[in-house]
Amino acid sequence: MKSILIEKFGGPEVLVYKDVEIGKPGPKEVLIKNLSIGLNFIDVYHRTGLYPIPLPSGIGLEACGVIEKVGSEVNLFKVGDRITHASMPIGAYSEKQIMPEEKLVSVPDGVSDEVASCITLKGITAEYLLHRAYPLKKGDKVLYHAAAGGLGQILCQWANALGAQVIGTVGSKDKEEIAKKNGCHHVINYSEKNFVEEVEKIVGKNSIDVVYDGVGIKTFKGSIETLKIRGMMVAFGNASGYVDTIDVKKDINAKGLFFTRPSIAHYTVTREELVESAKKVFDAILSAKFKVDISRKYSLKDAAQAHKDLETRVLTGPAVIIP
Ligand SMILES: NC(=O)c1ccc[n+]([C@@H]2O[C@H](COP(=O)([O-])OP(=O)(O)OC[C@H]3O[C@@H](n4cnc5c(N)ncnc54)[C@H](OP(=O)(O)O)[C@@H]3O)[C@@H](O)[C@H]2O)c1
Repeated sequence: MKSILIEKFGGPEVLVYKDVEIGKPGPKEVLIKNLSIGLNFIDVYHRTGLYPIPLPSGIGLEACGVIEKVGSEVNLFKVGDRITHASMPIGAYSEKQIMPEEKLVSVPDGVSDEVASCITLKGITAEYLLHRAYPLKKGDKVLYHAAAGGLGQILCQWANALGAQVIGTVGSKDKEEIAKKNGCHHVINYSEKNFVEEVEKIVGKNSIDVVYDGVGIKTFKGSIETLKIRGMMVAFGNASGYVDTIDVKKDINAKGLFFTRPSIAHYTVTREELVESAKKVFDAILSAKFKVDISRKYSLKDAAQAHKDLETRVLTGPAVIIP
């Protein structure tokens, strides 16, 4: 079967399209034929080594597929079930893969393969960010960076549906309209304007209840500036670089802020958490709290191009890889 492998960390060119052997599923594992694969910024961190993984390695953490074989002790799923997943073991950029059954969730009718493959990692992330990392309330003022991105498309619509006032930032003119479509009440082009000043014009100084910041080093200080006293800083990604130190006195103590640096793994620790979160995501999409508009589809052999497009900021929403 065909798969994307990396043998060394580096640019998109280290993603190599190869024939590989796939073994048999272990007792509690299943063999999945992937139907659609999600593209995520975390795949870039794995490829570059920002999040180190043992090499050589497969890559990719999100896919929807159909079960082709089950191990001798599998009891949650059967051959033919349509499932999705969003976690280690890494290796979703592949025609087939083997996963432990406990990491899988069933996909309900009414959710297509392609949509399922971009609302598992991104959908569960939106769920935990909006409901558990910070339980968003009606009327809360939210700042979300990269509001025309993959996660931005889902999270901003969902935050809007929860009754929040959503301010989104984008990096280019063409993304402004997209962020509005994604549910942002106000959109700031942070490549052209100082987003802190613009946020102040919209809601006033020190007024934001929660910032969801997946952009990282470029936006971190400004995000802190926009927050109200006792506001919540949720730093959950590093598209522009990793924030590895914070100044507790200046950044946190000055306004008595709350700070968290969560990952999806911290909110899907048990199978119950995974299944409950996925159910909320599927319920939300089936009840039109958010819609998914897939921005681009790539073939598996073009995974390097998909990474180039994600890193050069040309993508405007979730993208998928079709094996
Ligand atoms: N912690 C978690 O559990 C978790 C889970 C999922 C995703 N994430 C994080 O959430 C963020 C969004 O993920 P995603 O997969 O949906 O990606 P994405 O938002 O589609 O892409 C990242 C966006 O970041 C913006 N950006 C700003 N500076 C950038 C730079 N120097 N290089 C590249 N992009 C830059 C770009 O938007 P503009 O052009 O509009 O600036 C770009 O489109 C990422 O940081 C990801 O790691 C975290």
